[in-house]
Amino acid sequence: MEERKGRRIIMFPLPFPGHFNPMIELAGIFHHRGFSVTILHTSYNFPDPSRHPHFTFRTISHNKEGEEDPLSQSETSSMDLIVLVRRLKQCYAEPFRKSVAAEVGGGETVCCLVSDAIWGKNTEVVAEEIGVRRVVLRTGGASSFCAFAAFPLLRDKGYLPIQDSRLDEPVTELPPLKVKDLPVMETNEPEELYRVVNDMVEGAKSSSGVIWNTFEDLERLSLMNCSSKLQVPFFPIGPFHKYSEDPTPKTENKEDTDWLDKQDPQSVVYASFGSLEAIEEKEFLEIAWGLRNSERPFLWVVRPGSVRGTEWLESLPLGFMENIGDKGKIVKWANQLEVLAHPAVGAFWTHCGWNSTLESICEGVPMICTSCFTDQHVNARYIVDVWRVGMLLERSKMEKKEIEKVLRSVMMEKGDGLRERSLKLKERADFCLSKDGSSSKYLDKLVSHVLSFDS
Ligand code: UDX
Repeated sequence: MEERKGRRIIMFPLPFPGHFNPMIELAGIFHHRGFSVTILHTSYNFPDPSRHPHFTFRTISHNKEGEEDPLSQSETSSMDLIVLVRRLKQCYAEPFRKSVAAEVGGGETVCCLVSDAIWGKNTEVVAEEIGVRRVVLRTGGASSFCAFAAFPLLRDKGYLPIQDSRLDEPVTELPPLKVKDLPVMETNEPEELYRVVNDMVEGAKSSSGVIWNTFEDLERLSLMNCSSKLQVPFFPIGPFHKYSEDPTPKTENKEDTDWLDKQDPQSVVYASFGSLEAIEEKEFLEIAWGLRNSERPFLWVVRPGSVRGTEWLESLPLGFMENIGDKGKIVKWANQLEVLAHPAVGAFWTHCGWNSTLESICEGVPMICTSCFTDQHVNARYIVDVWRVGMLLERSKMEKKEIEKVLRSVMMEKGDGLRERSLKLKERADFCLSKDGSSSKYLDKLVSHVLSFDS
């Protein structure tokens, strides 16, 4: 491993793809600017380091000898996400402290620690104790962060917890959000959700700066709002995945792109609902029929295990795929960046996870928005009402007739300029990474900021 003296950064990602991927992309950005990067990763969901040869990986282990593993596959596979996050924070607090101490005591100067915002204030306590500066990475958008930061106010004013009778009311303090867009999720422990969110916001406030995977032209007002709330330096340097040196190797699976190569330009609906979401079998079947009845070619990602109570596709009616023939393809995982960049893709039916949102924007692909939980609801509202590059297909209305209607209208584009606006937004995303673009300028500032910690 190449030595880059005095320019070492320690990173601590949250062990989920939607958080790990942007952190590793950020590692690539720092590496390109002359830093060496050590990734402290939980033994839970430990990645394959050979896929990221530029970085040093250290495992943080939570296992205590002789005790049952609180994060074993059988324990966590059906766990409430919020409970899982709490458990991760508890299990890794002490091992994290020891790992940072070992890294910092190792002789080589460490410029700073970059931790995922969700790890919260514990990383601050550790950084202070060990004497290393801490910068936070917020992997989600600034608009959703504003809504998270407003939770105390939203609770005071009675918007939270959400009441079904108020779903369509505007949240006047956070336009253009409606009550149903607030970034909450179904959980058995709603108080725990508030604690995780509060810890994230407080942890960002006490940091030496926040790095955002967004760009100024996309979220200017929200970034200003966050900045005034947090009162720390902020660096919107995204979209990370568009930086030229992306050390993440592409998957070798060419199956999807080979199939896309055979389709007409902008004819395909790409449907994928991220890396975490699970759906009911009934919803799965509505999606299948909706896709089929829309009579558009489709590429649909169904992760094994993501349809509750089934392994993969066995609940599809007999002969369903044979009947569709070459007009549709279902895969277990796609190389989403390549798929979205393919000229055959005409629309992205998405759950509006922040990475998917940015990736679609960067390729100028209009979206069909079916948000499932937390920040996805806010992202969907911004996609539809602020950037106007997508149409809403609410999960509660996800029934085959409605699906068919929305897919057809996005693909036929009834002259409302969705595609043109998507392409314009793509141009703005491209510009922010150009030499004079805002993200490039913020990246220069970030590098100087991090290097100034030494002096
Ligand atoms: C999670 C949360 O659900 C989301 O609300 C939050 O914004 C980020 O963390 P996730 O479900 O992982 O998000 O979705 P998303 O943020 O869109 O990230 C998924 C990533 O996996 C994307 O980078 C996407 O390109 C990649 N992906 C997904 C693939 O490469 N192939 C696939 O088949 C599906």
